[in-house]
Amino acid sequence: MADKKARLTVDGIEEAIELPVYSGTEGPDVIDVRPLTGKGLFTYDPGFVSTAACESKITYIDGEKGILLHGGYPIEQLADNSDYLEVCYLLLNGELPNAEEKEQFSNIVKKHTMVHEQMSHFFNGFRRDAHPMAIMVACVGALSAFYHDSLDINDAHHREVCAFRLIAKMPTLAAMCYKYSIGQPFMYPRNDLGYAENFLHMMFGTPCEEYKPSPVLARAMDRIFLLHADHEQNASTSTVRLAGSSGANPFACISSGIAALWGPAHGGANEAVLNMLEQIGDEDKIPEFIERAKDPEDPFRLMGFGHRVYRNFDPRAKVMKATCDQVLAELGVDDEPLLRIAKRLEQIALEDPYFVERKLYPNVDFYSGIILKAIGIPTSMFTVIFALSRTPGWISHWNEFHSSPNRIGRPRQLYTGPQKRDYPA
Ligand code: SDX
Repeated sequence: MADKKARLTVDGIEEAIELPVYSGTEGPDVIDVRPLTGKGLFTYDPGFVSTAACESKITYIDGEKGILLHGGYPIEQLADNSDYLEVCYLLLNGELPNAEEKEQFSNIVKKHTMVHEQMSHFFNGFRRDAHPMAIMVACVGALSAFYHDSLDINDAHHREVCAFRLIAKMPTLAAMCYKYSIGQPFMYPRNDLGYAENFLHMMFGTPCEEYKPSPVLARAMDRIFLLHADHEQNASTSTVRLAGSSGANPFACISSGIAALWGPAHGGANEAVLNMLEQIGDEDKIPEFIERAKDPEDPFRLMGFGHRVYRNFDPRAKVMKATCDQVLAELGVDDEPLLRIAKRLEQIALEDPYFVERKLYPNVDFYSGIILKAIGIPTSMFTVIFALSRTPGWISHWNEFHSSPNRIGRPRQLYTGPQKRDYPA
């Protein structure tokens, strides 16, 4: 695979170190630094800003051009022409399904949407006001207690069964978190509904009357799921891969991904965006918050802005903004005050030199919270929906890792602590 070489000269090492350079089908070449350990050297890259941790065929991002491809298909085209379950199939298999494959995939997912009845007892151990992400970390990890029949990570069929179980059960568990928080009975999934429809039905339906989700809201929900489905080697996906490298079972690995996603710098940003917009409260207070975001001494950040990779508009944010306008217009709430604050913030951030110089554009989380709020989903559930959406991405990367020869991930360090010393006599 190495068609080029890099040569590294290091003070104190006589000969230049020759390192293989590999080219992918898209994106920057990579330098294979593994020979450095033989020379007594490590690379140093806190935050993995310039480190390719693996080879992958699933998703490609070009941060400078604002490009996101799943299996080579641009996210904008998938958002317009595809749906979430079809993208789940694409992420898992690398190709779009034909009509028969799509039907079969959807039917298998439907057959796995119920959770073991014992799962409902787990909820009783939590306070009603527990954060739903805490419950999701616990319950998804606990799924492995029910499926001893399919935990052989070296068996491709077992890995496929786990993928179906996780994609199918995440909406059920997510809705159970919401129902538990409001003291309403859990709603069982229904096989006559589409994936997003079923989720809204489990969230907002009750045993007392028929609940038929609005097609516009179901389509918006499906598009939110689709836009969050995968995003290359982000923090939570890298966590899932690293957990998977130890041979941990897939449910435990996905639970570790949920935990990593929870942080406000990552998937927790959608909840943090809404809390920020509500904290700002009025367009007149925007300048004060902009100044705080620019102040290096102030920990406040404009949530929903900036991205490690995108140094251009996050392509998902553009689609999300269009969806936001559609949903609010459909619901007749397009004068939503928070949306006005959000649009004013975006306008300022795109003009202010601080943000322009640092290429801080709105990311996927900036508009999603406003749509979710308009649909009636409580802020505390926003990151749960991100976790639900990202499950096919996590499980696809976990599966890709286990589909070829692999070894446990074990980064090294630059040690600057005390040198060897003896225990005082
Ligand atoms: C997601 O990786 C993925 O793909 C993630 C994700 C996915 O789909 O999996 O896309 C989902 O996590 C999107 C990001 C959601 N997070 C937020 O919206 C939180 C707010 N954003 C920031 O915390 C930040 O932008 C990060 C965490 C997203 C990126 O952090 P980096 O790459 O480490 O960038 P940085 O903190 O080094 O920032 C560079 C500069 C700094 O200023 P200087 O030191 O150069 O003076 O930009 C500043 C930062 O202070 N900066 C911000 C800012 N983000 C960066 N200043 C104000 N507000 C912000 N939001």
